[in-house]
Amino acid sequence: MRSHYCGHVNESLVDQEVVLCGWMHRRRDHGGVIFVDLRDREGLIQVVFDPETPDSFLTAERVRSEYVLRIKGRVRYRPEGSANPDLPTGKVEVVGHELEILNVAETPPFPLDEDHEVGEDVRLRYRYIDLRRPQMFERLRLRSEIVRTLRHSLEEQGFMEIETPMLTKATPEGARDFLVPSRNHNGEFYALPQSPQLFKQLLMISGMERYYQVVRCFRDEDLRADRQPEFTQLDIEASFIDDQKLLQMMEDMIRSLFAKVLEVPLPNPFPRMTHAESVHRYGVDRPDLRIGLELTELTDLMKKVDFKVFSGPANDPNGRIAALCVSGGGELTRKEIDDYTQYVAIYGAKGLAYIKVNDCADGREGLQSPILKFLPDEVIEGILTRCGAQDGDLIFFGADKATIVNESLGALRVKLGHDRGLVEYGWKPVWIIDFPMFEWNEEGKRWSALHHPFTRPMVESVEELEKSPGDALSQAYDMVLNGTEIGGGSIRIHNPAMQAAVFRLLGISDVEAEEKFGFLLKALQYGCPPHGGIAFGLDRLVMLMCGAPSIREVIPFPKTQSANCLLTDAPTPADDAQLRELGLRLRKPRNKVSAGESTTGS
Ligand code: AMO
Ligand code: AMP
Repeated sequence: MRSHYCGHVNESLVDQEVVLCGWMHRRRDHGGVIFVDLRDREGLIQVVFDPETPDSFLTAERVRSEYVLRIKGRVRYRPEGSANPDLPTGKVEVVGHELEILNVAETPPFPLDEDHEVGEDVRLRYRYIDLRRPQMFERLRLRSEIVRTLRHSLEEQGFMEIETPMLTKATPEGARDFLVPSRNHNGEFYALPQSPQLFKQLLMISGMERYYQVVRCFRDEDLRADRQPEFTQLDIEASFIDDQKLLQMMEDMIRSLFAKVLEVPLPNPFPRMTHAESVHRYGVDRPDLRIGLELTELTDLMKKVDFKVFSGPANDPNGRIAALCVSGGGELTRKEIDDYTQYVAIYGAKGLAYIKVNDCADGREGLQSPILKFLPDEVIEGILTRCGAQDGDLIFFGADKATIVNESLGALRVKLGHDRGLVEYGWKPVWIIDFPMFEWNEEGKRWSALHHPFTRPMVESVEELEKSPGDALSQAYDMVLNGTEIGGGSIRIHNPAMQAAVFRLLGISDVEAEEKFGFLLKALQYGCPPHGGIAFGLDRLVMLMCGAPSIREVIPFPKTQSANCLLTDAPTPADDAQLRELGLRLRKPRNKVSAGESTTGS
C-alpha cells in the first residue's frame, strides 16, 4: 500500500515518487495551497496540495484531523527559508498529486501534540488514540527493544524460554491472589500466578538447567506508580549455580542492556550493600544512591534526655532516633516544615522535630528549635558533630519504633532530594544482599518470610535455624536502580527437611504445607539440584529507561489506581447464568466505585 514511512522521507528521495499512508495530523490552508502533515509511526512529513491537481486539492479541503489517508506524490526540497529544523523530515516536502481517504474519523477527544497536557483518565479511556502520540509509540518501541535485547542475552547464555501455567494454584509472594472460579469443579478455584516461582523450581528439578520467561504475574495489592495488578516479569532460574555467579551474570546482562539500548555505561561491578547497612544509612532497602543525604544515628545519645518523645524510643529495644541534616535547609519556611511534617505522617510519624542551625560557633544561642529546651548541651553538641552540621543547615528528627523512623525518614530523604535538587544525574545500581530470613509480624504474632518461603537461609542446619530464626540471614538479593527495586531473587532451598522447617517457622502446619505445597515437597525428594534465580520487574525497568513517571506509561493498556480498565470498563459484573454455571452466588448487592473517586492517582 505504501512505498515509504512518512518519517523516512528525506533528501535522498528528492524527485522520486512516493506512496505514503497515515493519519492527518494537521492541516493548514495557505492562500491557495493546502499543507497536510501526514503522520505514521515513524514520524511526520509535510505534503502540499495545490489547485493544479484539482481532484486531490478538493479532497484535501475535506480532510479532518485523524482521517486515514493514502497519498501519492513527488519529493522535493522545501523552498528556501521554509525548512523546519525541528522536524527530521523538515528539509523536504511531498507535492501530492493523488489523495485517497481510506477512512474518516471523529474529532479526537484531545489533540495529539506533545505539548498538550491531557488528563490521564481521558488518555486511558481513549488509549488507542493516546498510543498514537509519538512519545507513547517511542516508549513501546523501547520496551520491545529492551525485551529483545534481554532475550538475546539470555539465549546466548543457554537459557531457554519455557511457559508455565496461568491457571494454577496459589504461589505466595506476599499479595492477595486473583481467583478464577472453575465451572467443571463448582466451589473450586484456580489462582492466577503471583509469579512462576514454584513452576520454575520444578523445571530445575526436571533438569532444564537454565530457564527464563517473559511472563505476566498477577497480584491483588494496593496499587501505586510502580505497581499494577498484572505486570510483567523477566523470570529467570538456573541450576548448579551459586549466588556469586548468578549476581555476576545478571548484572552483566543489565550492564550490556544499558550499553546497547541507551549507550550508557553502568559501573562494573555493581556495588553491594547489606540489607542492615541500607536500612541503617537510608532507612529503606531500596536506596536511591543518587541522593547523598544519609540518616544519622542518635539513639544512644538520647537515652537520658528529659524529653519523652526522644527518651521513649531511645530506651525501647525496637526504637530508633535518627536525624537528616539538610544542607542549606535553614531557609525552609514554617509552612514547608509543616508540609514535610504532614508528609512523614503518611508513614506513621507522629511529628517531625527540627533544629535550625544559624550559627554553629554560637552554641545553643546559634540554634533555633522548639525542642532545644529539652536537650542538654552535650546532647546538642553530639547532634551537631554527628550530623556534621554547618551554618544554614536544618536537622530533622525521627523518633519512634525503628520501622516507622526508617520508613518516614527514608521517604523524607528522597522527597528532600527531589525538592532541593540533590539528585545526582545518572544511574546508580546497587545489589542489596544479606536480607534477614524472617521478620516478626507483631499483629499476627508470627514470623513471616522477607522474600518468599523457598529462599535458602544462611545456616548449617535446621536446628540452627530453629534456635534463633530472627538472626538468620537469607541468600536473597535485590537489584535496585535509582531507588527502584527492579529485581529480586534468591538461592532456593533444595532440601525437603529445610523446606519443611521453614514452613513450620512461618506457622504453616504440616497438614497445610502438604495441602498447599505438597507437590513441591514431593518433587524435592526426587533429586533436586541446587538452584536459584531472580525476577526482574520489566515494567519498572522500562519505566526507568524511558524516564517515565509511572509504569502505566510503559504498559499499553494499564489499570488505574483502583484497578479498573477505563477502556473496557473491566471489571464488569457477571450475568446470572454465568454465575449459576460457576456455582456462585453473590453475598452482597453489587457496589460500583462511587463517582468522583480518584481513579489514576500517583
Ligand atoms: P518479587 O516479588 O520481588 O520476586 O518480584 C520481582 C520483581 O517484580 C517487580 N514487581 C512488580 N512490578 C509491577 N507491579 C507489581 N505489582 C510488582 N510486584 C513485583 C519488582 C520486583 O523486584 N518469584 C520471585 C523472584 C525470585 O525469587 O526469583 C518474585 O516474584 O520489580
Ligand atoms: P510535642 O512535644 O508533641 O509538641 O512535640 C515537640 C516537637 O517534636 C514537635 O516539633 C513535633 O513535631 C516533634 N515530634 C513529636 N513526636 C515526634 C516523633 N515521634 N519524631 C520526631 N519528632 C516528633
